[in-house]
Amino acid sequence: MDGLDTLKAKYLAAIATAADETALEDVRVAALGKKGEISALMSGLGKMEPDARKAAGALLNALRDEIDAALRARKSGLADAALDARLKSEWLDVTLPARPRRTGTIHPVSQVMEELTAIFADMGFAVAEGPQVESDWYNFDALNIPPEHPARQEHDTFFMNRAAGDDRPPHVLRTHTSPVQIRAMTEQGAPIRVIAPGRVYRMDMDQTHTPMFHQVEGLCIDRDISMANLKWVLEEFCRAFFEVPSVELRFRASHFPFTEPSAEVDIRCSWEGGQLKIGTGDRWMEILGSGMVHPKVLKAAGVNPDEWQGFAFGMGIDRLAMLKYGIPDLRAFFESDLRWLRHYGFAALDLPTLPAGLSR
Ligand code: DAH
Repeated sequence: MDGLDTLKAKYLAAIATAADETALEDVRVAALGKKGEISALMSGLGKMEPDARKAAGALLNALRDEIDAALRARKSGLADAALDARLKSEWLDVTLPARPRRTGTIHPVSQVMEELTAIFADMGFAVAEGPQVESDWYNFDALNIPPEHPARQEHDTFFMNRAAGDDRPPHVLRTHTSPVQIRAMTEQGAPIRVIAPGRVYRMDMDQTHTPMFHQVEGLCIDRDISMANLKWVLEEFCRAFFEVPSVELRFRASHFPFTEPSAEVDIRCSWEGGQLKIGTGDRWMEILGSGMVHPKVLKAAGVNPDEWQGFAFGMGIDRLAMLKYGIPDLRAFFESDLRWLRHYGFAALDLPTLPAGLSR
């Protein structure tokens, strides 16, 4: 086995000078590949006398191991160098401040949803969600609105089509966020504290109505919840949301199929020179519907009404945005007019938080 030293020197030099991983692979193939120089020598061993084969085999194995080790070492060195080069060229300073506001803004509805979520999260409410295409059962029956109930007519419902011959009740575009009460209780059981902001749909269109609008549902179920808790939560919410030192709410007896007793809630306000002010004044404005969740509703969601009770409420989000930010026409909310969005929109990176102020 002469010439092994020359072979070794040749390949070690080639390995040391291989410029990248492709060149290195070429060296590996030339030496150790199936048809490589060292592999060829190894397959020649079979024709040798046993003693000579033993000696030559040991030398060749050692050579192969040495070259293999050198290949691996060089390979990892090249990979490190490649990574270093990439890190240098793709370097990005993530601590740079963001560019100031250019064109995009946060829609007032999104802003108000973030504000609501921050306020209710502070009171221990999680956010729940449900589908916008809802079954008749969730949207009505489970909320104690059976098929013949007059409340069904009041909802101006959009119905989905069923396939011809399918006579099950059609799905609907949910007419309120109340079905999320049922879904949340069915999934999580009691006790539970959730809000459910989202889109709802009714066939209606004028200055204060659009066929799609937004509501937020609130639900709080536990062993010992009363209207007093409802009143405190709503007052706390209104004070925080309207960012005023105090608010006064008035509960008016009302009727909703899914609550008993039910109340509509008005907030004290004033209208002066076309300016609405929340908190003081001699006027009242209705802002939401609420009540103690009806035992039938609890039952429909698998919650035992002998053990659990609580309150629910529903408010219009768009309306809250109009009141807080003095926006006159609801229809403009959904026209995607850039001038309107720039005027009423919010800076994208100013997330509302209670400590920093909701609407800086
Ligand atoms: N779902 C009602 C609506 O859309 C609003 C509402 C009233 C929700 C009373 C409630 C409630 O949870 O208790 O008109």
